[in-house]
Amino acid sequence: MTTDAPRGDHRGGPVDLRSDTVTRPTAAMRQAMADAPVGDDHYGEDPSVRALEEYTADLLGHEAAVFVPSGTMGNFVALRASAAVGTEVIADTEAHIVTYELGGLAALGGVQTRTLPGLADTADLAEVARAIRVPTASYGMVRTAVLAVENTQARRGGRVVPPARLEQLGELTSPGPGSPCTATVRGCGTPRSPARSNRAGSPHRSRHCRCACPRGSARRSARW
Ligand SMILES: Cc1ncc(COP(=O)(O)O)c(C=O)c1O
Repeated sequence: MTTDAPRGDHRGGPVDLRSDTVTRPTAAMRQAMADAPVGDDHYGEDPSVRALEEYTADLLGHEAAVFVPSGTMGNFVALRASAAVGTEVIADTEAHIVTYELGGLAALGGVQTRTLPGLADTADLAEVARAIRVPTASYGMVRTAVLAVENTQARRGGRVVPPARLEQLGELTSPGPGSPCTATVRGCGTPRSPARSNRAGSPHRSRHCRCACPRGSARRSARW
């Protein structure tokens, strides 16, 4: 079931709650796209892309942002920015990067994924801490580079990860050369994301986090 009605217009039928991606752009949104100034982004000359990147960096409290056209690409570049070849990413068993994305992190990125049930919320912090593998004298031990937290969690009913939990996970990954970091992968797989996210507070800003915004999130965030 799909709808051509603008987001939030529930007159005349049931609301399709499968995903925010099943909604259609309004006429005004289509017009804004048609009228948008464009250029060669390779040279940094696309004013619309630059405006979106600057807006997003400011929104999330980062030095810079880069626009990529799909969620899978966003997940990949965010994780590979912190996980070198031969390291590992710890993710929830149900994470999008584990369940879908064709194993791209391993296939294209040379990064191993290890799963931990309930990483984002229910797993005990001590258990998470024990799972993190730091460089030791043991030759060949894989190093944990990233705790990957999907927020909202597409395959867990659109649950929001509270900022406090992200901070706690971030504290486990103390900043410093060679230490792991926490990456937040922003989910777009549930229509409840915007409402629930708003309830959980403003977009998370943390010194521990890198963020990847699948197209749905970027679309919601763009006000230019
Ligand atoms: C958390 C998460 N990552 C990635 C994706 C994939 O996005 P795309 O289809 O744009 O690659 C989705 C979409 O459902 C998602 O929910």
